[in-house]
Amino acid sequence: MAEQQEKWRSYWDKSAAGYDDEMKFWDRLLYAGQREWVCERAVGEVLEVAIGTGLNLPLYPDDVKLTGIDISDGMLEAARLRADDLGREVDLRKGDAHQLPFEDNSFDTVVCTLSMCAIPDVDRSVREIHRVLRPGGRLVMVDHVVSPFWILRLIQGFIERFSVPSAGEHQRRRPILNVRAAGFTISESERIKGGHVERLVATK
Ligand SMILES: C[S@@+](CC[C@H](N)C(=O)[O-])C[C@H]1O[C@@H](n2cnc3c(N)ncnc32)[C@H](O)[C@@H]1O
Repeated sequence: MAEQQEKWRSYWDKSAAGYDDEMKFWDRLLYAGQREWVCERAVGEVLEVAIGTGLNLPLYPDDVKLTGIDISDGMLEAARLRADDLGREVDLRKGDAHQLPFEDNSFDTVVCTLSMCAIPDVDRSVREIHRVLRPGGRLVMVDHVVSPFWILRLIQGFIERFSVPSAGEHQRRRPILNVRAAGFTISESERIKGGHVERLVATK
């Protein structure tokens, strides 16, 4: 597992330079408006888990206090450059979503966009998010999920044969189930884009 995770981390390091260009396509096709939907729900002290290159940074309200973690130095470096360009203060740290480097009850909001597909152990990460949120704090999340259509699920399964070994990218997850199992109360949830994208707000 540790060796496999190291391989995926190195994949993200190498992907950092081309990530924003690749996401321009997907953000237009599948995720238009989703980053805005998530960020406008962030309040207070905010942790973004698996922040990547920081594509959400320009979208947060000015008055939130931001911390971001990611496992990849390459992604974090890109996020640092973006934060500097924006003049936005962000505490960016290398960290693993499986073991968040924060005390219990530290944040008002945790944001996670398009990353539960890539984090190896969703249950463990969601439990960690629950731990670091204050009582009443909210997890706001969007991700691509398993298709409601069997034919598309077959295609997703085929894609996973390549995407999981190379990048740890899962196509058939449904993180809302892990979020409920961790003890959160779902206060908003919606499946969009034919059910392939799911967004949610969950309260501790
Ligand atoms: C598809 S990218 C999403 C990046 C960003 N959240 C976005 O919305 O563009 C997945 C990110 O998850 C990060 N990641 C994967 N496993 C992780 C882990 N165990 N802990 C923290 N970050 C992780 C990768 O380094 C990568 O930046």
